[in-house]
Amino acid sequence: MRTQVAIVGAGPAGLALAHLLHRRGIESIVLESRSRAHVERRVRAGVLEAGSVDLLLAMGVGERLRREGLVHRGIALRFADTSHRIDFDELTGGQTVTVYGQQEVVKDLIAARAALGLPLLFESEVSAVNGLHGDRVAIAYRSADGIERIIRADYVVGCDGFHGVCRRAIPASELRIYERDFPFSWLGILAQSPPVSEELIYTHHERGFALVSMRSPTISRLYVQCANDEHVDDWSDDRFWTELRARLASDAGGPNVVAGPILQKGITPLRSFVAEPMRYGRLFLAGDAAHIVPPTGAKGMNMALADVRVLAAALDAFYARGDDGLLEAYSPTCLRRVWRTQRFSAWMTSMLHRFADVSEFDRRVQLAELDYVISSRAASQTLAENYVGLAFT
Ligand code: FAD
Ligand code: DHB
Repeated sequence: MRTQVAIVGAGPAGLALAHLLHRRGIESIVLESRSRAHVERRVRAGVLEAGSVDLLLAMGVGERLRREGLVHRGIALRFADTSHRIDFDELTGGQTVTVYGQQEVVKDLIAARAALGLPLLFESEVSAVNGLHGDRVAIAYRSADGIERIIRADYVVGCDGFHGVCRRAIPASELRIYERDFPFSWLGILAQSPPVSEELIYTHHERGFALVSMRSPTISRLYVQCANDEHVDDWSDDRFWTELRARLASDAGGPNVVAGPILQKGITPLRSFVAEPMRYGRLFLAGDAAHIVPPTGAKGMNMALADVRVLAAALDAFYARGDDGLLEAYSPTCLRRVWRTQRFSAWMTSMLHRFADVSEFDRRVQLAELDYVISSRAASQTLAENYVGLAFT
């Protein structure tokens, strides 16, 4: 098989890139190791920046997002038993975010590709990418029928997430890795229970961080900080609800948590990671394949979409006019915004979580930082403008 752009991975990055390229008349084949049912059911992130929503609408895949997405005009920061609202609308001149599950974005993009009859091969695991400095790339994969096959393409884009194969095709001597592992994880659940509050609440508590979010008027998405060595089996449903209530409680009562059946439970370690550069010969990396953020700023899916928006424009300039200037600029262009988003995600994470081995002095400074953020307009605005999404330069 032969195509212009081979895309490895059918997460938000790979699927959005394929659709953007199609709209510019560029052919692609998407290869995904898992089944369609698996990727459509994978519960992950849920907050879309204003710019991500605009992108999906402009791509013609935002109809259900417009109908079912929940527009949020602010969030609450909760600490010392009190919630404080950060008003995005007022602080950013009317910008908002939209709560819409990542797997809904993925479903919409898969449906669009299927309706167009364009190649999206599930259960097709890429094992190697070769010829990154030749005239063509060769992508080796095992197709759903178990046969080893090769696709030849002008370019290959690694949208295969943190554990994918594409980043590993770059020689270690050519790649610089920057990373930080945080000493805690998030236990996340999806529950059939009404949202705890109309807006998200990011809670700093001495028992640990907690976040209440939602997917619909009847489905809650809830997270609590847990230890890195904990397993989902350590967390009975009862333990989860008790812990969440303890972290949200106050003498005045606190937000009302209505327990319901837990539909899904998972643990995610918190990590910051950047691989530079995001290009090596005919290979480009996008999304989690190139960078990971801790989820505290809700940036992972948005960064994946931001990368492929830059890459689609660059490939368009190349195929339409033979101009490879934007392809040359792809890595530095993305990395500038990636690092600013890394800064925000690490800051939110450090401000809101409980760190076990810090002094009482450090704890007081952490509380003072939260107090500053909610009392200073400049500081609230800093949080708000990053949360709704930095501008594309
Ligand atoms: P992915 O969505 O990871 O997609 C990569 C795809 O490539 C996958 O479908 C994978 O199956 C496929 N693939 C991998 N290797 C191969 C191969 N060799 N051949 C073919 N296909 C391959 N962000 C938040 O903001 N909030 C959250 O609460 C949150 N929770 C998360 C929970 C988990 C468990 C994970 C892993 C991530 C979470 N994130 C969260 C981050 C966010 O979901 C990611 O940033 C986002 O999925 C990135 O999209 P992507 O397309 O780059 O990668
Ligand atoms: C959700 C996830 C996040 O990481 C976050 O910061 C806010 C909301 C969510 O899944 O709804």
